[in-house]
Amino acid sequence: MSSSLLTPPSEQNVHVWQWDLDVRGSEFNQYWEILSTQERERADKFRFERHRHRYVVGRGELRQILGRYLALAPQAVTLDYGPEGKPFCTIQPSDWKLCFNLSHTENRAALAISNDFEIGIDIEQVRPIEENLPTHVFSTRERAQFDALPGTEERQKVFFETWARKEAGLKALGTGFILPPDHFEFDLSVHGDTTPRFVGGDAQEATHWRIRALPANPVCAGAVAARRKDWSIVEMNQEALRQRPVGYRPA
Ligand SMILES: CC(C)(COP(=O)(O)OP(=O)(O)OC[C@H]1O[C@@H](n2cnc3c(N)ncnc32)[C@H](O)[C@@H]1OP(=O)(O)O)[C@@H](O)C(=O)NCCC(=O)NCCS
Repeated sequence: MSSSLLTPPSEQNVHVWQWDLDVRGSEFNQYWEILSTQERERADKFRFERHRHRYVVGRGELRQILGRYLALAPQAVTLDYGPEGKPFCTIQPSDWKLCFNLSHTENRAALAISNDFEIGIDIEQVRPIEENLPTHVFSTRERAQFDALPGTEERQKVFFETWARKEAGLKALGTGFILPPDHFEFDLSVHGDTTPRFVGGDAQEATHWRIRALPANPVCAGAVAARRKDWSIVEMNQEALRQRPVGYRPA
């Protein structure tokens, strides 16, 4: 676990971190040590050990990274929750405002950090959908586009791309699925970065939003959303690798 301090994102950047939730042994114990009492109680309520383990590593690494931006020990990071459960940092730096959002799917976690604007992130493991397709995810227009898609592979890819965009939007708002998934409506023929067609049925409101795709990955779809146009993703794992001295070998 690194403890070096991190420079805040500029107002045009969103830092994205990703990590593996299936760590073993002593690393897991270190994460457990830095959780709050409330987080440990929540961890102990998971029915399956694998889910408990992943929650602990997710929250532990979240605290670790937030602490590096805030110049605080991970244990000293204090979180509170919005009305629908969106976590935020209660202790903030004096010269910028740290906003964040976390997502996990299977053994992978992703964290987005921005400076003074709300963001949402969602990652989704791409998996077979033909049986039990949750069609309520789509608006009528989206459903018509989806039904016209050729082939299982293309449908699977577009389904999870669209799902990730919608959930990222709803997480940026902080409502999650208190609002219906068709609150954000997209043109399914556009891949990668996009702007919704409608937000809450309003085309004008949609123009304020930008939804950026995480780099293409055949097994995992991902999106970051903000009600703001002029921002970009900086992949921090890549950034950290670039900044390592030549000849660096991970321990
Ligand atoms: C937010 C929501 C879409 C996340 O679903 P999910 O399948 O767990 O998806 P993800 O893995 O992408 O996101 C989970 C993370 O999002 C964050 N989160 C939780 N609620 C959130 C919200 N309302 N808005 C934005 N982010 C939220 C948390 O950090 C959470 O991870 P953690 O619990 O390990 O810290 C879903 O929980 C939801 O719709 N919640 C709102 C409605 C609700 O149930 N409210 C009652 C709680 S007060």
